[in-house]
Amino acid sequence: MTYNQVECDVLVLGTGAAGLTLALQLADQYQVALIAKGEMTEGCTVYAQGGISAVAQQDDSLASHIEDTLNAGAGLCDEEAVRTAVENGPRAINWLLEQGVSFTKEAQEDGSSDYHLTREGGHSHRRVYHAADATGKEIETSLAEQVRVHPNITIYQHHIAVDLIRGDRIGWSAGRCVGAYVLDKTEQYVKVFNARCTILATGGASKAYLYTSNPDVSTGDGIAMAWRAGCRVGNMEFVQFHPTCLYHSKAKSFLVTEAVRGEGGRLLLPDGTPFMKDFDPRAELAPRDIVARAIDHVMKRDGLDHVLLDISYKPAEFVTSHFPTIYQRCLEFGFDMTKQALPVVPAAHYTCGGVKTDLNGCTDLDGLYAIGETAFTGLHGANRMASNSLLECIVFAFRAADHIREHINDMPKAPELPAWDESRVTDSDEEVVVSHNWDEVRRFMWDYVGIVRTDKRLQRAKHRVDLLKREAQEYYGNFRVTNDLIELRNLVHVADLIILSAMSRKESRGLHYTLDYPERDDSKPPQNTILIPENYVGKR
Ligand code: FAD
Ligand code: SIN
Repeated sequence: MTYNQVECDVLVLGTGAAGLTLALQLADQYQVALIAKGEMTEGCTVYAQGGISAVAQQDDSLASHIEDTLNAGAGLCDEEAVRTAVENGPRAINWLLEQGVSFTKEAQEDGSSDYHLTREGGHSHRRVYHAADATGKEIETSLAEQVRVHPNITIYQHHIAVDLIRGDRIGWSAGRCVGAYVLDKTEQYVKVFNARCTILATGGASKAYLYTSNPDVSTGDGIAMAWRAGCRVGNMEFVQFHPTCLYHSKAKSFLVTEAVRGEGGRLLLPDGTPFMKDFDPRAELAPRDIVARAIDHVMKRDGLDHVLLDISYKPAEFVTSHFPTIYQRCLEFGFDMTKQALPVVPAAHYTCGGVKTDLNGCTDLDGLYAIGETAFTGLHGANRMASNSLLECIVFAFRAADHIREHINDMPKAPELPAWDESRVTDSDEEVVVSHNWDEVRRFMWDYVGIVRTDKRLQRAKHRVDLLKREAQEYYGNFRVTNDLIELRNLVHVADLIILSAMSRKESRGLHYTLDYPERDDSKPPQNTILIPENYVGKR
């Protein structure tokens, strides 16, 4: 090891459900370096509420889970990816149980107990395992506990990956990834990670929007890094808006799980009138693109700043035992959900597109994998069904780990990699520009590239993002990198990818709805939107 070069077999960028699962799968055999932008447990996973889907009950079947997923995906799911995820669901649940994850149980008539399965939009059966309404916290903390004590895993918290390193930097093939540059935010210098294989498990990009259910780390870094390194990116126009985030000036990003609707919660106008039946016969249990669009519609039609979500007609004990976290948090904001309806609004929630992978998580570069929300596996098509994301994280982490085990001998470690070059940069004297541009991109993405789009709005967004891309690049070239600058550069790149993808889809399908082409185009087979970077080195 030289001054700032860290060597490992497996470099995992990201410590959510996907990254932690992969690290645990491989750590008995290989040296794993695990990188987190902040604290290890900070990411979307820890905030997941509803649960993780997997077939369990007698009256349910794999075929039914597959069919529901395909229906939600509006004709764009990859059937093989869906089958892979669904068929491995029971294995994923068993593995989580082995790691100490404790899912909620309920008493059976014969006195025994079994897992309580909840139901969410798009699911035709109860098949969502959950830990009350804090499933993600239970999964994240259980896996993190295992990772912390594993002797072969070195954890680097408060480290942010800046860019991937391709083989051509050292005279190897440009089609290979040999590691990454990573900023140590505490010591404030960039380290070089030299790895036989690198895994992007960096989560989604919902922070590209002003209002989001996601934590601050979701800035699409993995997608932007892979794109810059020459990987294809797919279906970025399909941004999922969750219908029900709490509406309160201080409730930053607080989600009210879809399971509230699954357990009977009703959406109401402020005068108490239910409205979902006017939009879909499944009413509150329609897939969330339909519910989010319906809420957006009535809010715009009636000039509302929110609608209401009401489960207060159920017994208080039912509400507090099923939704203890939400109940407590809402009380802090002055809402008692056992007695009153909650004010809710839609917010950006999930990135269905991402780095194009095969079913083993392989990207276009040898030695580079993408798993979890950052990947585009084809599972979700044009719209993700609730609780299929945690499932994808676990199942595709298993698959990538299997592939790495089989192929790691074909992935030699590079000799020394070039150090990060800081010779031509200075400290920024205009941090205000970075924070201003952060706000600007998120605002115009919300206004012009949101739940309802038009060609004109997308054009406006494109002009603005082009300008911001130039400014971010200029900053990046002239000033020492900081967390905010790295994230801004990534945000404008993913915003651009979302806009380009949305502009190219001349129909409405799943999560992409445009007033200029309001119908789904079934005159030809449905197509994914695959964007190819200028430095693409070819299909593997
Ligand atoms: P994350 O858990 O988001 O983790 C990303 C990791 O990458 C973090 O460790 C972060 O620090 C790291 N990272 C990012 N960029 C960098 C970088 N440049 N350098 C180093 N590290 C980096 N899905 C379900 O299936 N069921 C649910 O009930 C559910 N509920 C949800 C509720 C909420 C409020 C939210 C926001 C999402 C929910 N989802 C749910 C979606 C699901 O939680 C996420 O899709 C999933 O957890 C993503 O896991 P991940 O491992 O891909 O990424
Ligand atoms: C929720 O609990 O409503 C979120 C579920 C999901 O995003 O899958």
